[in-house]
Amino acid sequence: MKFPKDFLFGAASASYQVEGAWNEDGKGVTNWDIFSKIPGKTFEGTNGDVAVDHYHRYKEDVRLMAEMGLESYRFSISWARIIPDGDGEINEKGIEFYNNLIDECLKYGIVPFVTLYHWDLPLPLEEDGSWTNKRTTNAFAKYAEVCFKAFGDRVKHWITFNETIVFCTLGYLNGAHPPGLVNAHKEYFQATHNVFLAHALAVKKYKELKQYGEIGITHVFSPAFSVDGQEDNLFAANHANYYQTYWYYDPILKGEYPQYVLDALQKKGLTPDWTEEELRMLKDTAGLNDFMGLNYYQPARVEKIQGTAKSVEISRDNSTGRPGNPSFDGVYKTVMMEDKVYTKWGWEISAEGFLDGLRMIKERYGDVKLYITENGLGDEDPVIEDEIMDVPRIKYIEEHLKAVKTAIGEGINLKGYYAWSVIDLLSWLNGYKKQYGFIYVDHKNNLARKKKLSFHWYKHIIETRGEEL
Ligand code: BG6
Repeated sequence: MKFPKDFLFGAASASYQVEGAWNEDGKGVTNWDIFSKIPGKTFEGTNGDVAVDHYHRYKEDVRLMAEMGLESYRFSISWARIIPDGDGEINEKGIEFYNNLIDECLKYGIVPFVTLYHWDLPLPLEEDGSWTNKRTTNAFAKYAEVCFKAFGDRVKHWITFNETIVFCTLGYLNGAHPPGLVNAHKEYFQATHNVFLAHALAVKKYKELKQYGEIGITHVFSPAFSVDGQEDNLFAANHANYYQTYWYYDPILKGEYPQYVLDALQKKGLTPDWTEEELRMLKDTAGLNDFMGLNYYQPARVEKIQGTAKSVEISRDNSTGRPGNPSFDGVYKTVMMEDKVYTKWGWEISAEGFLDGLRMIKERYGDVKLYITENGLGDEDPVIEDEIMDVPRIKYIEEHLKAVKTAIGEGINLKGYYAWSVIDLLSWLNGYKKQYGFIYVDHKNNLARKKKLSFHWYKHIIETRGEEL
């Protein structure tokens, strides 16, 4: 079987992780420009000031993407390039950069798939309460509208937010992302609600503009499975799915929060401040959402914590996705299992978990249109006689694309796959050590680009539309 004709083979990046040019052409300062420079916050003090210089080298990068046969490029817009202070004046130079990038993609027939928010927030908003303040929600709606009007004639695929769970968990519970708060439970839930609301406002605006494209959101997809058949562990896995998946997907796809979580929040005094009007807004826009983007790297293997374990303060080192952390409410923890396979960074490799998770999504949300907006292997790529022989990455993507194919065969409505990442880039917490790209960047040689083995492999997969998978 070949992948259907309207299925997009793509790859992804994010502004802060690739662009660099952090203070050029009128761009405002962002939360990450500051946070990454606080000692101890990032791996070996790395930051995105230069990143892989995509801002200046986008033409070369897009040409390489075209050579690879890429059908679609998912990238994010840096809000602070468009509106430097978050909700004030528009910076024409920022508009110009993304116009150029979009046009460059279109020149080669590459479909731009644009994320509006991949974690870099203009500093004045960050300093005014970040996502706990509805000022940020309203500012986002304005920024989204500016982008729709500037780019919507050519961009027909929009993602409002990337992985709300990650920037909220790491920002308000673990202290590993800005604003760097720890165990701020109330703020955490408030921030998630304000993001869902911002998403709803943007979706509503987009539909009003009648640009006839599609809009959705991207969430982490980390389905939870019990480590065994014991009742308390099964309970823990269900509990984890409510907090880690349904809390994030339900307000978008069903227009309401899961009652199971709402009841617990009420008991604990953690219910976000919201109005009836806001809740109605979620309800009214749920049907307008066109798709759900899923970023899948690994499932969660879950075990119940016995006794009265309390949530603990989590450092940057155990905020990098490796299992072993307790949930914020002390109910369960994620664990590594002996019979599973893990990457060098301790992330489980499981295409089966991917497929089972997709079935779970279909069961709960029906026929919703899905894109895999990220999936890939973080590795230290082997270099043999000057060639980047990233065979493990090929294997990883191959297994996961096979799962996608099976899912499509089962009637799951999957319309595209975006490997993370198109090019080696800056990992928020792992620096440049953890590579994901099809294109290698030589940090010892003026950031020169080089094609990896996976580049040629992915090109072949796209050319043959995955027939051999
Ligand atoms: C996703 C993010 O969570 O995972 C990306 O959307 C990120 O921005 C990717 O780079 C991989 O994470 P890490 O920690 O391995 O670099």
